[in-house]
Amino acid sequence: MEDEKVQWSSHISFILATVGSAVGLGNIWRFPYIMGKNGGAVFLITYLLLIAFICVIPLCCELFIGKKYKTDTIQSIKNINPKFKWVGWLCILTVILIPCFYFVVGGWILNYIWLFLSHHIPANFTQYFGAYSSQIYMPVILTLLFLIMTAIFPYRGVNDGIEKANNIMMPLFAIILIILAIFALTLPGAKEGLLFMFKPNFSHFDKTMILTALGQALFTLSIGMGTILTYGSYMKEKTNIAKSAYQLIFFDTLIALLAGIMIFPIVFSFGVEPTAGASLVFISLPEMFSKLPFSSFFGLVFFVLLFFASITSGISMMETGILSFIKNFNISRKKATIILTTIIGLISIPSTLSFGVLKDFTLFNKTFFDLLDYSTSNILLPFNTLLICLLSGWCIKSLWKELLGENIFGYIFNILLKFVVPVILICVLVTGI
Ligand code: PFF
Repeated sequence: MEDEKVQWSSHISFILATVGSAVGLGNIWRFPYIMGKNGGAVFLITYLLLIAFICVIPLCCELFIGKKYKTDTIQSIKNINPKFKWVGWLCILTVILIPCFYFVVGGWILNYIWLFLSHHIPANFTQYFGAYSSQIYMPVILTLLFLIMTAIFPYRGVNDGIEKANNIMMPLFAIILIILAIFALTLPGAKEGLLFMFKPNFSHFDKTMILTALGQALFTLSIGMGTILTYGSYMKEKTNIAKSAYQLIFFDTLIALLAGIMIFPIVFSFGVEPTAGASLVFISLPEMFSKLPFSSFFGLVFFVLLFFASITSGISMMETGILSFIKNFNISRKKATIILTTIIGLISIPSTLSFGVLKDFTLFNKTFFDLLDYSTSNILLPFNTLLICLLSGWCIKSLWKELLGENIFGYIFNILLKFVVPVILICVLVTGI
């Protein structure tokens, strides 16, 4: 059974692990693009205000609950109010469903690492990606391989597995990102790229832009599924929650901005339309890398960067499910890892095949992969976050006092938590649906 006294060995390890969870595909393939398309600097300021004053509230709540009860998501929520134990289960359902599409992309990343490593660079990436993702065997095998890779670290335990992985991969990730960003700034399209991303455009300031910024902030901080709560449960007693929350926000945003500073100069130097998501990462960028000198090197380094970003997020998703299985089914860490890996593996197969043989198998006009993405990001995440805020605000009466003390900051936090954030989350939910 899990040792009750598991703790991060240092504050840096805790921050690296939470930043590892927060920084993922969302930072690299989504943030820079939506910032550029939604008003540049105007979007950035809106995003910063929202993340610093609104999203920080559920973030602090999850850290607080984790630190206070020192157990998994389900038991923690049960401790707050036993009637709401199902909210914990809902978080675990979410954290099981997210990897079922996120790891499909992880499998594609592994394939691209192999392409650039073995110098098998296709002549046309649009054709190549379409043909590859619609195959049956290879994408499924690589999705499962990525899943096993993410499971190995939590299988080895918090200190020997998760902590070591993040302590090595996150600094490497930062070094690669900074080198690629500096290189990108030397390209001829650097100025145009930065203008696309940062140029303020006030005409985009509307309700849709605000909700887009909020949705992105929730997803990128990995809140609403117990991940931050789980990592918070390993926090040392003396760790300051509010300070840690702002450190996480700072690094997550900095990395998302650096990703844009790396991507857009490349995009504009080659004169292609800026896009987001799979087409940017698996078609446009590799196409451009193949035109650079040392193309295999740049391609390889870029996909290794993506690999680090996605695996450290994947590890946090796995750990959240594993700790809950350990605590609720009273089983060993090894058994819990194997059961969770099997469940995610089975659901990931139809999700991977959504780009090929199961392409026409749709529900509400969405493939299985899209359905998983949509239902978790647009419905479950904001819904769970709303419930966590309501439970924290109305059931843990002393939360704001313990967190900030009886001062002006504590009072503001309490009002935001009880009234403002829930109303905003309901708006996000209604528009999302
Ligand atoms: N925050 C990650 C990203 O921006 O890609 C995604 C994520 C990680 C979601 C961990 C959920 C999670 F538990």
